[in-house]
Amino acid sequence: MEIAGTTAFITGGASGIGFGIAQRLLANGARLVLADIRQDHLDEAKQFFEERQQGRNVHTIRLDVSDREQMREAAKECEAVMGGPEILVNNAGIDPSGPFEQATYQDWDYGLAINLMGPINGIMEFAPGMRRRGKGGHIVNTASLAGLTPMPSQMAIYAVAKAGVITLTESMRDSMAKDNIGCTVLMPGPIKSRIHESGQNRPDRFRQGSGLRENEEQLAQRVVSDTWMEPTEVGDMIVDAIRHNKLYVATHGNWKEQVEARFKAMIDAMPEAKPFDFGASLSVPKKED
Ligand SMILES: NC(=O)c1ccc[n+]([C@@H]2O[C@H](COP(=O)([O-])OP(=O)(O)OC[C@H]3O[C@@H](n4cnc5c(N)ncnc54)[C@H](O)[C@@H]3O)[C@@H](O)[C@H]2O)c1
Repeated sequence: MEIAGTTAFITGGASGIGFGIAQRLLANGARLVLADIRQDHLDEAKQFFEERQQGRNVHTIRLDVSDREQMREAAKECEAVMGGPEILVNNAGIDPSGPFEQATYQDWDYGLAINLMGPINGIMEFAPGMRRRGKGGHIVNTASLAGLTPMPSQMAIYAVAKAGVITLTESMRDSMAKDNIGCTVLMPGPIKSRIHESGQNRPDRFRQGSGLRENEEQLAQRVVSDTWMEPTEVGDMIVDAIRHNKLYVATHGNWKEQVEARFKAMIDAMPEAKPFDFGASLSVPKKED
């Protein structure tokens, strides 16, 4: 699809990968609505674009992607202020990692509410408008290579959510295609960002009863390496994926062997195929491409 003249709504759009995507979409002619839980990130992003005389093409909304009411209101505000969106980027996320045996229900609820339900809430609140407007469009969901590569228990909450985002994107694709809406799942490796500040971004209702506070404090000390990828480079990959409706974007090739070994082990675990009847009530999706 053509990006010029569209509106892009980007969650977590005021920092890191989301902000990199925002910059590249704007450079390709899109208007932006940046949604983020952090007012300081939104103010910084707005100032960045104002300094480049692009402020009138950027609107900011403070929201928490795990709050469905706020997401619903944001969809209305986006349509009223900027029109659209034709492009939805469900990108906001946090790092809820820590010792598996210390994670509480509160940590699981928090990690899944932001990293998995966040994209689902975005789709539930924005896709009906995208369909209604009839202009087609594109949805990008940010997962992670951690959703595909076997992960240590320390990363379990994160990996479960990100694996869900990959499957979500794959499985919604045929439904979205009916309305000419393309889908991309972004699976980044290490990218320069402020995800180490996740502890600051944990909504208040998920704070009490967490078992991972110490881990969040350690994470806050993590130094962003020069060897990690620039977010605008990811932004360029997303521009290309939207233009050509690419389902998968992986930023790094470093874990190919592990992913291959994982799928090989799963396939090896499968017995020889035998024909059987799915039954009339179950339809198997047609292979469209
Ligand atoms: N940076 C990496 O190496 C990396 C790798 C793989 C996947 N990812 C994923 O990329 C996405 C973006 O992360 P990033 O690394 O750019 O981090 P980041 O912290 O720089 O950016 C994320 C933004 O999302 C916002 N945010 C956090 N919780 C929110 C909420 N509940 N509602 C709305 N906004 C919220 C933050 O304030 C921040 O501005 C995340 O989904 C993350 O899991 C990042």
